[in-house]
Amino acid sequence: MDKIIDLRSDTVTKPSPEMRKAMYEAEVGDDVYKEDPTVNELEEYVADLLGKESALFVPSGMMGNQICLNVMTQPGDEVICERTAHIFQYESGTPAAISGIQLNLIEGENGVITREQIEPLIRPESAYYMPRTRAIEIENTHNVAGGTIHPISNIKSIQELADEYGLFMHLDGARLWNASVATGIPLGEYASYFDSLSVCISKGLGAPVGSVIASDVGFIKEAFRVRKAWGGGMRQVGIIAAGALYAVKHNIKRLAEDHENAKNLSEGLANLENVEINLDNVHTNIVMFKPLAKSVEQVIAECKEKGLLLGPGGVGIVRAVTHLDVDKNDIKKAKEILAEVIQ
Ligand SMILES: Cc1ncc(COP(=O)(O)O)c(C=O)c1O
Repeated sequence: MDKIIDLRSDTVTKPSPEMRKAMYEAEVGDDVYKEDPTVNELEEYVADLLGKESALFVPSGMMGNQICLNVMTQPGDEVICERTAHIFQYESGTPAAISGIQLNLIEGENGVITREQIEPLIRPESAYYMPRTRAIEIENTHNVAGGTIHPISNIKSIQELADEYGLFMHLDGARLWNASVATGIPLGEYASYFDSLSVCISKGLGAPVGSVIASDVGFIKEAFRVRKAWGGGMRQVGIIAAGALYAVKHNIKRLAEDHENAKNLSEGLANLENVEINLDNVHTNIVMFKPLAKSVEQVIAECKEKGLLLGPGGVGIVRAVTHLDVDKNDIKKAKEILAEVIQ
């Protein structure tokens, strides 16, 4: 059978032979004692890339986000974020379940929220009977909105607002790499507007496991304690950190190819009848489209029979994500399959 083209997510990539070699050869130690040289190197490398003092390797993006929220809040506090933010939709209710905090949600446009929307939601300091607003969270790129990029000018004005009110800023930067490659804005510039951020290495960069959170030394010291308290203290984890280190050293620039492939796929879709797609929203590696003549389930099932895997992207929407295990030829084939299924 022909190769299965898997566009369900950029998390489906398998480590390349070179990445596996780096993992095989990794020097390791006990990371709970901070003695794993490969983890230490990864943390320093990513902290430098992001222009932060310190960083911590964590098993997943979700744990990274949730540790940061936990460190910046007390039970009863509130964090403002966009209504379809990953921390709200897909992180198992952990803000409430573990940190005892609530999220105050804003309807964004393409995942973007503004200073004007946020300011009225900030609780007055005098209102001791209200939850205490503690932080603002932004997701860049925004997953549910389709890999859209949050404009830097908007981030800057939100950060100024956060400063005025003494609020923390947290970035869910699972795909910050994609935003940076697409805009040319350095990672450190994006990171400079946030107190803490979480970046995923197991998505577009293609490592099998892991995310990194970054902040100042005091914050990361506390995050290290919380990670252990949540059962995330890992031992000779340099084996997987080596895959992550290989990924951040080799796989950032090439994300431009994924963006090109997503653009190419979305243009192919726009040429089909019975498809609604907004090409202006295809900023990075995620393509969202609405099939008009068949249900999402039908499109996904029929594409699967022909060797193309897609996922649901919300009500009535199909999602396709490009990544380092698909190339131009795969995209050409994907477009042919989609044409057969959708026309
Ligand atoms: C925007 C965003 N944040 C966080 C995560 C969580 O990452 P993980 O699956 O590693 O927990 C994801 C996963 O898809 C994501 O898309």
